[in-house]
Amino acid sequence: MASEAWHTAAGKPPSASAVEMVHLVLPNHANQLGNLLGGQLMQWMDIAAALVAMRHAGKVCVTAAVDSISFLEPIRIGHIVHILASVNRAFRTSLEVGVKVFREDPINGTRTHAASAYLTFVAIDQYGKPLPVPPVEPQTDEEWRRWREAELRRQQRLQQRELLRQLQQQHVSQSPEGAP
Ligand SMILES: CC(C)(COP(=O)(O)OP(=O)(O)OC[C@H]1O[C@@H](n2cnc3c(N)ncnc32)[C@H](O)[C@@H]1OP(=O)(O)O)[C@@H](O)C(=O)NCCC(=O)NCCS
Repeated sequence: MASEAWHTAAGKPPSASAVEMVHLVLPNHANQLGNLLGGQLMQWMDIAAALVAMRHAGKVCVTAAVDSISFLEPIRIGHIVHILASVNRAFRTSLEVGVKVFREDPINGTRTHAASAYLTFVAIDQYGKPLPVPPVEPQTDEEWRRWREAELRRQQRLQQRELLRQLQQQHVSQSPEGAP
């Protein structure tokens, strides 16, 4: 049972909301050298992850943070891009989605891990107010590993957020324009 103190709704397994999106890389997705643009891939990853978040939450979700994004291998015009996304863990109003990208060469049939990232989404109402999300109920050893590791990444994100807040407050209190 993966439910935490703040959860009131029933849990859902990651498989209930997981998605795989497939794209063919065309010239309008690429740079002058024929490589897929990083920004295009990030858009596809964000959309795949948003679908997972909204399916899991059953609510509108917005991207709050993107981290650990790695582009491991170039993807070229004519390659097929597989974007696999699934929810790792849900917190109170936020959840973490893991995205893994595979590059498939349709000519020789090879499939290579090309990119990955973690995206945090927050479920919101029509006024932008965060809403509670159901817990994730991992079913497999791999899902349990992702669930445990997601908590460590959340702590890092929130620490970083707090640090930035403190630095901004310091900056405002020290600058003459920002002083009350
Ligand atoms: C995301 C957003 C709703 C959070 O609002 P907020 O007023 O900061 O709300 P809170 O401080 O109550 O945080 C709400 C949740 O977001 C999480 N969160 C907020 N910023 C985060 C960050 N940088 N990283 C990870 N989690 C974050 C909090 O941990 C909290 O989760 P929890 O309830 O599970 O603990 C708000 O910042 C927002 O609307 N941002 C713009 C989102 C957007 O438009 N995205 C599209 C890209 S342009």
